[in-house]
Amino acid sequence: MFLEKRSGNEWIVCEEKVEKEKLGYWETLFTLGNGYLGSRGALEERIEHSGTYLAGIYDNERIVNSPNPICLDIWVEGSKLDIDQVLEHKRALDMRRGLLLRHTVFKQNKRRFDYRSKRFFSPVNRHLGGILATFKSLDKDVEVVVRSKIEGKGKKDLFGRPLNQYFITEVGEKGGLLYLVANTSELGIELCFATSLEILDGDKPVGTLSFSFDSETSVAEVRFIAKKGKSYRINKLISVFTSKDTKSVKRVCLGALGNRKPSSLLRSHQDAWKRKWNNFDIEVKGDKDVQRSIRFCLYHLLIAAPPKRIDTSIAPNTLTGDTYQGHIFWDTEIYMLPFFIYSWPSKAKDLILYRYKRLGNARLAAKERRYAGSLWPWESAQDGREATPDWWVNFDGSKMKVWTKEREHHISGDLVYAIALYYQFTKDEKFILEQGAEIVFETARFWASRVTRNAKSKKYEIRDVIGPNEFQKKVDNNFYTNFLAGWVLKYAHTLFHFIKQKHPSKFEAIVEKIGLSDREPKRWKEISERLKLNISSSGLIEEFDEYFKRKDVVIKERNESGMPLWPAGVRLEDVGKTQLVKQADVVLGLCLFSNEFSLQAKKINFEYYEPRTIHKSSLSIPTYALIAIEIGEIEKAYRYLQLLANSDLSNLFGNTSRGIHGASLGGTWQVVVRGFGGVKSKEEKLSINPSLPRAWQKLKFRFWWHGHNFEIAISKEKVSVFLRTKTKDVRLPIEIYNHTYYIKSGETLTIER
Ligand code: BGC
Repeated sequence: MFLEKRSGNEWIVCEEKVEKEKLGYWETLFTLGNGYLGSRGALEERIEHSGTYLAGIYDNERIVNSPNPICLDIWVEGSKLDIDQVLEHKRALDMRRGLLLRHTVFKQNKRRFDYRSKRFFSPVNRHLGGILATFKSLDKDVEVVVRSKIEGKGKKDLFGRPLNQYFITEVGEKGGLLYLVANTSELGIELCFATSLEILDGDKPVGTLSFSFDSETSVAEVRFIAKKGKSYRINKLISVFTSKDTKSVKRVCLGALGNRKPSSLLRSHQDAWKRKWNNFDIEVKGDKDVQRSIRFCLYHLLIAAPPKRIDTSIAPNTLTGDTYQGHIFWDTEIYMLPFFIYSWPSKAKDLILYRYKRLGNARLAAKERRYAGSLWPWESAQDGREATPDWWVNFDGSKMKVWTKEREHHISGDLVYAIALYYQFTKDEKFILEQGAEIVFETARFWASRVTRNAKSKKYEIRDVIGPNEFQKKVDNNFYTNFLAGWVLKYAHTLFHFIKQKHPSKFEAIVEKIGLSDREPKRWKEISERLKLNISSSGLIEEFDEYFKRKDVVIKERNESGMPLWPAGVRLEDVGKTQLVKQADVVLGLCLFSNEFSLQAKKINFEYYEPRTIHKSSLSIPTYALIAIEIGEIEKAYRYLQLLANSDLSNLFGNTSRGIHGASLGGTWQVVVRGFGGVKSKEEKLSINPSLPRAWQKLKFRFWWHGHNFEIAISKEKVSVFLRTKTKDVRLPIEIYNHTYYIKSGETLTIER
């Protein structure tokens, strides 16, 4: 059978039977997409949490859960083949080819029907997708109706309230194609979905096509007699366009399907995925499970990346769900962006430009709160204004007031950190001069206005914040925030002088544009040197003022996968009175600014905070894994990676059905490449300092540094680096195991351990 051979393979994620309580989970894992859209991997005949998300299509500040074009029902002698009648079933996400494969044998009234399908959304023509299926009646000639739908029924939000995000303006049929047009409620963005349907016996069309409509659904149907044992092909092609793509949405959407050959569409789709994997794959020898999970993370990162012309970024659930309303958080800059910086620098730049294009609103936000410069929104949607809701659902399902937009200001530093990392890896001066510096300077201005000077200690302080550990809703001098702010101010000062010296004419243009004088950078430097940091003489860091005075609760119990169990006796509403940490906070600071802390400091803080961190966010585990590698706890880091890489596959956080955890995807990549692979940029050198877990025999991947492409293979005994570059006569410094070498274009450098 066409799926059987593939299970167990490291390119395949498999569902072996239909379980009603797991429908949502599989829908998330099996999401198909191409950055332009994400289509949850529902069964054609039964959709649990419907989800079709189009990149950058927001209405009322939340991503629109658009009509669903994948529905396809098969009716035999008047009864629908449904999941209650399944005899055998298997679905597989074939990550190598970007396909969702299915084989189901239905049994209805003692008769069996064999259904197989391949579903895809093309990365070549991102408006197109298709379901290419076959149907066979195994026991008898029967009358069959294939019903293909575009489902426009409105969706509900997390609280079960109708979303009312769009209204349907037109349903219809033209030239044998079915379509549905909707307009979003507030902004009136037009969305059009069109589908074709054909049933073939060999190459010969069978049956007649007819159409029916109600106010929310368009249906195309073909009725035919299926001969016993004969296989019929069912081809449904899908086209999606919006008024952001074209002025004539319906015409272009229908036109895109004209004379499309399913087989050639599928071929170009598969070729494109082959090329993608050539560039992005990570090979791990000796560890099939983690290998598959890593590919799963890469697959989801790749389908999350928006096309260049769409001005948007990537949400925490990517385009697989809308738990966070499709808003953009720091998850992108700190957790996902490093993957793009190393592997797809032009995409990383687009993602940073999403922020740059919203600098105006970040300036306004700062002004409204009487700060200078730019204050970046904790949650951002289409226009970059603060989009954080006032209320949200807590872990126990209760409603909670949200304070992040008022206080979780570290987002402004996170963005500058991402810009610095991008620049360090790409040396893209054009970007720094034309956009990056402006963000950096405006954000430094914000921090300079955000601090207050303590007259007694003569230190600068940052009061009333929420740090990454969101259990604490209002603290003073959160270490992560203060350190990051100080670093931003220092970085801005250095950048200011660098541009002044190296690019005087650009310098003039920037300072004139934003009205910057020499006095401000001087003050930035002064503040950065006097920011309050709670670090004891032993190197132990206090997460915020008086954190150590809070009730000390240490996690004693863990579940079978090693995740901490909520300590008995601590009520959720009282967690802020304890030292429990929701997600890496101090440890994240050590991780991002690794060069500025000693090994000893990393050890002490890791040991203190690990037993107090409950990992109630997917952003936590990668950070602990990365620091564990630095302090030589390789096997511990490996256990963290196993949890992390597998977190959605194993439903670690219990909410995979609502969408993938983007931070886990990017975090997994970071632990593998930056952590175990040890690939970093150090001053002006590329630095490679690997430490592989015991189980791994070999680790292989590609990445970009300073505009050149590298291929690296790491084993326990040696590191081989191949410099694949078109530029001749390149000679680059590269530090391997703390010794500097030079590598030339087309050369492989092999260093024994
Ligand atoms: C985390 C944040 C994160 C957000 C979206 C929250 O639970 O605490 O750090 O940005 O989820 O993933």
